[in-house]
Parts: sequence; structure tokens; C-alpha cells
Amino acid sequence: MIDSLSFESLCEASIIPVLVVREVELAVPVAQVLLDSGLPTIEVTLRTEAAIPSIKKISDTLPEVIVGAGTVRTPEQLTLVKDSGAAFAVSPGTSEKLYDSAVDSSLPFLPGVATPSEILKAREAGFTICKIFPSEKLGGVEMLKTLAEIFPEMKFCPTGGVSEANLVSYLSLTSVPVVAGSWIAPESLIVAKDWTEIENRSRRAVELVGSLGKE
Ligand code: 3PG
Repeated sequence: MIDSLSFESLCEASIIPVLVVREVELAVPVAQVLLDSGLPTIEVTLRTEAAIPSIKKISDTLPEVIVGAGTVRTPEQLTLVKDSGAAFAVSPGTSEKLYDSAVDSSLPFLPGVATPSEILKAREAGFTICKIFPSEKLGGVEMLKTLAEIFPEMKFCPTGGVSEANLVSYLSLTSVPVVAGSWIAPESLIVAKDWTEIENRSRRAVELVGSLGKE
């Protein structure tokens, strides 16, 4: 199994802020605020032209930050993010080609799944930790309870609609070691350079995780 071992440090993170960065010069400041407020593991989504240079800049400038690449959809992107210094890659969904290149790559890979059949395929490809996306729209905590009964060996990183309001319910599930989401540092706050609000959101989330004893 390729799986969990390489993802242990990610799971320890409990929360992975998902970022959309449109200007490279905003990448390091936002990563720094998250690091300083207790969230050293972040995901920069490949949704903007600034994403790859931002990953590179963060990985070159802030070695304490574990920066991964999100929204990885092709084998070419997987190679590109690895070469740019990403510590891990996350996909919204999967394909045979993506699995093949993820297995060949030594880069930790969190495959996106949405159905039991996709979980079976992830398992067959050797992955026992998956991103479940879009989690809230798929059924959220109740859906995950059902999946845990069917796949007791699997762990999940719910993403999509995770917020301060449901964070504790998700992380209380034994099948959920880590969640990801944009609510801590949404694009609007990054563009506005509202580092104070991002820091407040981050600290509140870290506190909630602390109350669970999962920190
Ligand atoms: C992602 O890219 O993983 C999701 O879009 C994050 O979902 P959220 O914005 O609902 O947190």
C-alpha cells in the first residue's frame, strides 16, 4: 500500500486550508499567517496562473510550511507540481492515468472520491486515504458514518463545505483524521490582504481541534 504512511504528517495537521492565490506576491504572506497561527500544512489549488509560482515561492521561502498542490487533474500537472516543490498533491477526482502516474511518483497523493465505487478503485490503486468531495453536498457527516461501516480500513479528508460550524462533527469521526477547506483563508480575504481575519479564523479552528484532543 502506498497510502497512509506518507500521509501521516498530513493527517496530523487536522486542518488543511485550501487556497486560491491570484497574485504570487500574496502567497508567502498568507502562508506565513497560517503558519504563525498554527496551520503549517496548506493546499494551493491549480485554479490560477499564479498557483505554480506560488507553490514554488512558498516552498523556497518558508521551509516550515508543508505546501501541497490542489485541483491536480492530469499526470502532467502531477509532474509539474512535484518539480515546483509541492510536498503533496490533491485531486478533485481520479482517472486511470492519474492513478498510474501517482503510483509511479513518489509524491504523496490524496485522490478525490465521491462514491463507494470510486473508493474501491482508490483502494485497488493502493490508497487508503481519500479526499471526499464535495463532502457537504454528498451528505456530510452522516454519509461518512455510512462509508466508515463499509470501508473500516479507509480514512477520509472531507472537503467542500467544511466550515467552523461543522469542523468538530467531522473531526470527531474516527475515519476523519483531517479536513480541508477554503473557509479559513477564502480568496476574498486573501485579495483584501485581511491577514487579521485569516489569523482569527485560523486560531479559532486550531482551538476547536485542540478541544477534541486531536491536535
Ligand atoms: C477544493 O478545491 O478542495 C474545494 O473547492 C474546497 O471546498 P470549499 O471551498 O467548500 O472549502
